[in-house]
Amino acid sequence: MIRLHVHPDKATAVRAVAADIAGLIRARAAAGKRAVLGLATGSTPIPLYAELVRLHREEGLSFRNVTTFNLDEYSGLGPDHDQSYRWFMQRQLFDHVDVTPAETHVPDGLAKDVAAAAAAYEAAIRAAGGIDLQVLGIGRTGHIGFNEPPAGPATRTRQVHLDELTRRDNAAFFGDVAKVPRHAVTMGVGTILDCRRVVLLAWGEGKADIVRRSVEDAPSDDCPASWLQRHAACDFVLDPAAAARLARR
Ligand code: F6R
Repeated sequence: MIRLHVHPDKATAVRAVAADIAGLIRARAAAGKRAVLGLATGSTPIPLYAELVRLHREEGLSFRNVTTFNLDEYSGLGPDHDQSYRWFMQRQLFDHVDVTPAETHVPDGLAKDVAAAAAAYEAAIRAAGGIDLQVLGIGRTGHIGFNEPPAGPATRTRQVHLDELTRRDNAAFFGDVAKVPRHAVTMGVGTILDCRRVVLLAWGEGKADIVRRSVEDAPSDDCPASWLQRHAACDFVLDPAAAARLARR
Protein backbone atom coordinates (compact mmCIF):
# COMPACT_ATOMS: atom_id res chain seq x y z
CA MET A 1 0.00 0.00 0.00
CA ILE A 2 1.28 3.46 -0.88
CA ARG A 3 0.56 6.24 1.61
CA LEU A 4 0.69 9.70 0.04
CA HIS A 5 2.15 12.73 1.80
CA VAL A 6 1.94 16.00 -0.11
CA HIS A 7 3.95 18.78 1.56
CA PRO A 8 3.80 22.50 0.73
CA ASP A 9 7.37 22.35 -0.62
CA LYS A 10 10.38 20.04 -0.71
CA ALA A 11 12.12 21.78 2.20
CA THR A 12 9.17 20.95 4.46
CA ALA A 13 9.03 17.44 3.03
CA VAL A 14 12.68 16.65 3.72
CA ARG A 15 12.44 17.99 7.27
CA ALA A 16 9.64 15.50 7.95
CA VAL A 17 11.58 12.60 6.39
CA ALA A 18 14.81 13.52 8.20
CA ALA A 19 12.92 13.69 11.52
CA ASP A 20 11.49 10.23 10.79
CA ILE A 21 14.97 8.84 10.04
CA ALA A 22 16.42 10.54 13.14
CA GLY A 23 13.66 8.95 15.25
CA LEU A 24 14.55 5.51 13.88
CA ILE A 25 18.29 6.01 14.50
CA ARG A 26 17.71 7.25 18.07
CA ALA A 27 15.20 4.49 18.93
CA ARG A 28 17.67 1.86 17.73
CA ALA A 29 20.54 3.50 19.64
CA ALA A 30 18.43 3.56 22.83
CA ALA A 31 17.83 -0.19 22.39
CA GLY A 32 21.56 -0.81 21.81
CA LYS A 33 20.91 -1.76 18.19
CA ARG A 34 22.02 -0.61 14.76
CA ALA A 35 19.76 1.20 12.29
CA VAL A 36 20.13 -0.02 8.70
CA LEU A 37 19.37 2.67 6.11
CA GLY A 38 19.02 2.21 2.36
CA LEU A 39 20.12 5.34 0.52
CA ALA A 40 19.59 6.87 -2.91
CA THR A 41 21.60 9.35 -4.98
CA GLY A 42 20.57 11.81 -7.70
CA SER A 43 19.32 15.36 -7.23
CA THR A 44 16.17 14.48 -5.24
CA PRO A 45 17.70 13.45 -1.87
CA ILE A 46 20.36 16.20 -1.74
CA PRO A 47 18.26 18.43 0.60
CA LEU A 48 17.47 15.39 2.77
CA TYR A 49 21.18 14.71 3.31
CA ALA A 50 21.75 18.41 4.05
CA GLU A 51 19.07 18.22 6.74
CA LEU A 52 20.57 15.04 8.24
CA VAL A 53 23.97 16.78 8.38
CA ARG A 54 22.28 19.74 10.12
CA LEU A 55 20.65 17.38 12.66
CA HIS A 56 24.09 15.86 13.31
CA ARG A 57 25.81 19.24 13.78
CA GLU A 58 23.11 21.16 15.61
CA GLU A 59 21.00 18.54 17.35
CA GLY A 60 23.53 15.87 18.25
CA LEU A 61 22.18 13.15 15.94
CA SER A 62 24.86 10.46 15.89
CA PHE A 63 25.36 7.98 13.05
CA ARG A 64 27.65 5.70 15.10
CA ASN A 65 24.98 2.98 15.18
CA VAL A 66 24.05 3.40 11.50
CA THR A 67 24.80 0.97 8.67
CA THR A 68 24.01 2.09 5.11
CA PHE A 69 23.44 0.37 1.78
CA ASN A 70 23.14 2.46 -1.38
CA LEU A 71 20.86 1.39 -4.18
CA ASP A 72 23.19 1.56 -7.12
CA GLU A 73 26.45 2.54 -8.80
CA TYR A 74 27.48 3.23 -12.39
CA SER A 75 29.45 0.39 -13.96
CA GLY A 76 33.00 1.42 -14.78
CA LEU A 77 33.20 4.31 -12.29
CA GLY A 78 35.45 3.93 -9.26
CA PRO A 79 35.09 5.73 -5.91
CA ASP A 80 37.46 8.51 -7.05
CA HIS A 81 35.37 9.42 -10.10
CA ASP A 82 33.45 12.60 -9.32
CA GLN A 83 30.26 11.22 -10.89
CA SER A 84 30.37 7.91 -9.02
CA TYR A 85 27.68 7.39 -6.45
CA ARG A 86 30.33 6.55 -3.80
CA TRP A 87 31.85 10.00 -4.39
CA PHE A 88 28.37 11.58 -4.19
CA MET A 89 27.58 9.91 -0.87
CA GLN A 90 30.92 10.92 0.66
CA ARG A 91 30.39 14.58 -0.33
CA GLN A 92 26.67 14.81 0.48
CA LEU A 93 26.58 12.85 3.75
CA PHE A 94 29.27 10.45 4.91
CA ASP A 95 32.15 12.98 5.16
CA HIS A 96 30.02 15.25 7.37
CA VAL A 97 28.68 12.80 9.98
CA ASP A 98 30.17 10.27 12.41
CA VAL A 99 29.20 7.14 10.45
CA THR A 100 31.81 4.35 10.55
CA PRO A 101 33.28 4.18 7.01
CA ALA A 102 33.23 0.36 6.95
CA GLU A 103 29.49 0.46 7.71
CA THR A 104 28.72 2.35 4.48
CA HIS A 105 28.09 0.17 1.45
CA VAL A 106 27.78 1.20 -2.21
CA PRO A 107 27.83 -1.41 -5.00
CA ASP A 108 31.29 -1.72 -6.59
CA GLY A 109 31.18 -0.28 -10.11
CA LEU A 110 34.60 -1.78 -10.88
CA ALA A 111 33.95 -5.39 -9.76
CA LYS A 112 35.54 -7.91 -12.15
CA ASP A 113 33.04 -10.64 -11.28
CA VAL A 114 29.83 -8.60 -11.27
CA ALA A 115 27.53 -11.54 -10.45
CA ALA A 116 29.65 -12.55 -7.44
CA ALA A 117 29.81 -8.95 -6.20
CA ALA A 118 26.03 -8.62 -6.57
CA ALA A 119 25.44 -11.84 -4.61
CA ALA A 120 27.85 -10.59 -1.93
CA TYR A 121 25.92 -7.31 -1.72
CA GLU A 122 22.65 -9.17 -1.12
CA ALA A 123 24.41 -11.34 1.48
CA ALA A 124 25.77 -8.24 3.27
CA ILE A 125 22.24 -6.77 3.48
CA ARG A 126 20.96 -10.04 4.96
CA ALA A 127 23.90 -10.22 7.39
CA ALA A 128 23.05 -6.70 8.61
CA GLY A 129 19.54 -7.93 9.41
CA GLY A 130 17.87 -6.36 6.36
CA ILE A 131 17.17 -2.71 5.58
CA ASP A 132 14.94 -0.86 8.07
CA LEU A 133 14.16 2.13 5.87
CA GLN A 134 14.98 2.60 2.19
CA VAL A 135 15.01 6.09 0.66
CA LEU A 136 14.13 6.17 -3.05
CA GLY A 137 13.90 8.68 -5.86
CA ILE A 138 12.08 7.83 -9.09
CA GLY A 139 13.24 8.12 -12.68
CA ARG A 140 10.97 9.33 -15.47
CA THR A 141 11.08 5.78 -16.91
CA GLY A 142 9.52 4.50 -13.67
CA HIS A 143 12.84 3.17 -12.42
CA ILE A 144 13.61 2.80 -8.71
CA GLY A 145 17.29 2.23 -8.10
CA PHE A 146 18.35 1.67 -11.70
CA ASN A 147 15.66 -0.94 -12.34
CA GLU A 148 14.63 0.21 -15.78
CA PRO A 149 11.49 -1.26 -17.33
CA PRO A 150 10.83 -4.10 -17.67
CA ALA A 151 11.69 -5.11 -14.09
CA GLY A 152 9.60 -6.86 -11.48
CA PRO A 153 9.59 -8.27 -7.95
CA ALA A 154 11.81 -11.24 -8.84
CA THR A 155 14.79 -9.00 -9.66
CA ARG A 156 17.75 -8.85 -7.23
CA THR A 157 21.05 -6.96 -7.23
CA ARG A 158 22.57 -7.26 -10.71
CA GLN A 159 24.03 -5.35 -13.62
CA VAL A 160 21.50 -3.52 -15.80
CA HIS A 161 21.43 -1.54 -19.04
CA LEU A 162 20.48 2.14 -18.58
CA ASP A 163 17.56 3.51 -20.54
CA GLU A 164 18.42 6.26 -23.05
CA LEU A 165 15.95 8.63 -21.30
CA THR A 166 17.81 8.04 -18.01
CA ARG A 167 21.16 8.67 -19.71
CA ARG A 168 19.85 11.94 -21.17
CA ASP A 169 18.39 12.96 -17.77
CA ASN A 170 21.83 12.48 -16.22
CA ALA A 171 23.84 14.03 -19.08
CA ALA A 172 24.09 17.43 -17.36
CA PHE A 173 26.03 15.89 -14.46
CA PHE A 174 28.58 14.41 -16.88
CA GLY A 175 28.67 17.40 -19.24
CA ASP A 176 27.89 15.21 -22.24
CA VAL A 177 25.48 12.29 -22.77
CA ALA A 178 28.29 10.30 -24.41
CA LYS A 179 30.10 10.23 -21.05
CA VAL A 180 27.14 8.74 -19.15
CA PRO A 181 27.82 5.02 -18.53
CA ARG A 182 25.60 2.55 -20.35
CA HIS A 183 25.41 0.09 -17.46
CA ALA A 184 24.97 0.17 -13.70
CA VAL A 185 24.74 -2.22 -10.77
CA THR A 186 21.50 -1.89 -8.81
CA MET A 187 19.57 -3.55 -6.04
CA GLY A 188 16.57 -5.29 -7.61
CA VAL A 189 12.90 -4.46 -7.22
CA GLY A 190 12.71 -7.57 -5.03
CA THR A 191 15.60 -6.31 -2.88
CA ILE A 192 13.72 -3.02 -2.40
CA LEU A 193 10.42 -4.78 -1.60
CA ASP A 194 12.23 -6.71 1.18
CA CYS A 195 13.05 -3.45 3.04
CA ARG A 196 10.89 -3.00 6.13
CA ARG A 197 9.90 0.55 5.13
CA VAL A 198 10.25 2.41 1.84
CA VAL A 199 10.11 6.22 1.49
CA LEU A 200 10.03 7.51 -2.10
CA LEU A 201 10.70 11.22 -2.67
CA ALA A 202 9.66 13.14 -5.80
CA TRP A 203 9.70 16.84 -6.58
CA GLY A 204 8.60 18.91 -9.54
CA GLU A 205 6.23 18.61 -12.47
CA GLY A 206 8.69 16.44 -14.41
CA LYS A 207 7.82 13.56 -12.04
CA ALA A 208 4.03 14.10 -11.95
CA ASP A 209 3.16 11.65 -14.73
CA ILE A 210 5.37 8.79 -13.50
CA VAL A 211 4.18 9.32 -9.91
CA ARG A 212 0.58 9.00 -11.11
CA ARG A 213 1.33 5.82 -13.08
CA SER A 214 3.18 4.31 -10.09
CA VAL A 215 0.34 5.00 -7.67
CA GLU A 216 -2.77 4.53 -9.82
CA ASP A 217 -2.04 2.03 -12.58
CA ALA A 218 -2.03 -1.71 -11.95
CA PRO A 219 1.45 -2.94 -10.93
CA SER A 220 3.46 -3.85 -13.99
CA ASP A 221 7.06 -4.46 -15.03
CA ASP A 222 6.61 -1.54 -17.46
CA CYS A 223 6.69 0.80 -14.45
CA PRO A 224 8.95 -0.84 -11.84
CA ALA A 225 7.96 1.72 -9.15
CA SER A 226 4.33 0.53 -9.43
CA TRP A 227 5.38 -2.69 -7.60
CA LEU A 228 5.68 -0.55 -4.48
CA GLN A 229 1.87 -0.83 -4.27
CA ARG A 230 2.54 -4.38 -3.05
CA HIS A 231 4.74 -3.17 -0.17
CA ALA A 232 3.14 -3.15 3.29
CA ALA A 233 4.71 0.15 4.39
CA CYS A 234 5.56 2.47 1.53
CA ASP A 235 5.31 6.28 1.73
CA PHE A 236 5.44 8.63 -1.26
CA VAL A 237 6.61 12.05 -0.07
CA LEU A 238 5.78 14.67 -2.71
CA ASP A 239 5.67 18.36 -3.38
CA PRO A 240 2.45 19.75 -4.96
CA ALA A 241 3.92 19.71 -8.49
CA ALA A 242 4.88 16.01 -8.32
CA ALA A 243 1.41 15.21 -6.90
CA ALA A 244 -0.47 17.31 -9.45
CA ARG A 245 -1.75 14.46 -11.65
CA LEU A 246 -2.94 12.18 -8.84
CA ALA A 247 -6.68 11.57 -8.70
CA ARG A 248 -6.62 10.79 -4.97
CA ARG A 249 -4.67 13.23 -2.85
C1 F6R B 1 19.66 6.99 -7.53
C2 F6R B 1 18.64 6.16 -8.13
C3 F6R B 1 17.68 6.70 -9.16
C4 F6R B 1 17.24 8.14 -8.94
C5 F6R B 1 16.34 8.61 -10.07
C6 F6R B 1 15.89 10.04 -9.89
O1 F6R B 1 20.38 6.22 -6.57
O2 F6R B 1 18.59 5.05 -7.83
O3 F6R B 1 16.54 5.87 -9.14
O4 F6R B 1 16.58 8.24 -7.71
O5 F6R B 1 17.00 8.47 -11.28
O6 F6R B 1 16.99 10.90 -10.07
P1 F6R B 1 16.88 12.43 -9.70
O7 F6R B 1 16.69 12.49 -8.20
O8 F6R B 1 18.19 13.02 -10.11
O9 F6R B 1 15.70 12.97 -10.42
